[in-house]
Amino acid sequence: MADLDDIREGRDFGLDQAIAGQQFYLKGCDNLDWGMKDRLSRIFNKKSGRTVMLAFDHGFLMGPTSGLERIDLNILPLVPYADCIMATRGILRSTVPPTSNKPICLRADAGTTILTDMNDNVFMDVQDAVKMNASAMAVMLAIGDPKMEAKTVANLMEAVNAGQKYGIPVMGVTAVGKDMVRDTRYFSLASRVCAENGANIVKTYYCDGFEKVVASCPVPVVIAGGKKLPEMEALELCYKAINDGAAGLDMGRNVFQSDAPIAMIQAVHALVHDAMSPKQAYALYEEIKAAVKAE
Ligand code: 5RP
Repeated sequence: MADLDDIREGRDFGLDQAIAGQQFYLKGCDNLDWGMKDRLSRIFNKKSGRTVMLAFDHGFLMGPTSGLERIDLNILPLVPYADCIMATRGILRSTVPPTSNKPICLRADAGTTILTDMNDNVFMDVQDAVKMNASAMAVMLAIGDPKMEAKTVANLMEAVNAGQKYGIPVMGVTAVGKDMVRDTRYFSLASRVCAENGANIVKTYYCDGFEKVVASCPVPVVIAGGKKLPEMEALELCYKAINDGAAGLDMGRNVFQSDAPIAMIQAVHALVHDAMSPKQAYALYEEIKAAVKAE
């Protein structure tokens, strides 16, 4: 047990200072192997340093939720507009054509579903991730959850050990338990624990003070979209996250549950890579939505 006496909150995050001596275009990745860098540069655009990942792995916990009833109908039309897709091996093999040639962030752990209190989780065989040509493996970390924390940290360690062996980056996904407060302190701690344990990318949620979460995490941070918001609010959320230093998004419901998913993913893409404001991106959303309707 660590000495918990006199733990002091971090205060100086050097928010106005660039990272000293960084060479590779992604934060914290200078010392990674060639294969890792190759895979990361399939996920993150080399010009903007950012990514728009399309997440549709929700079914492994929730079943066929709204917008994911038919992956072939709901999701495949969106795939060309994503920089990377995040899904389970079951959905990839059964429904996503390998000829789509998108980098994949493979959901590499699984546990119990929303029908039970989650209390266990396992990590897949890394050789299957190699066979699927995964560009990254995503593993959940449930920090602060008394039933899940130890097991999910162990899964992350296993994923990082395997990832290092085969040159596959690991994305640590910070899950938020029902009782956790969604604040800077929690997300900074969860994100930093992912990175300290070897995650090469961290996926977390936006919160007030997000720039501190990003500054204190030594590897690229992407945000999940969370529950469905009105389109303008979702674009504002993306803008704030990017402005505060996020290296992109790994978004699901705010795209596939949108009134016009094809328009929404393109609007998000323009905001992330082309420095569009939320207002400009929303105008683009409306424009594409109207054009798709007219077809
Ligand atoms: C679940 C996940 C989901 O992929 C993630 O939450 C992204 O989806 P959304 O934008 O709908 O929140 O990682 O563990």
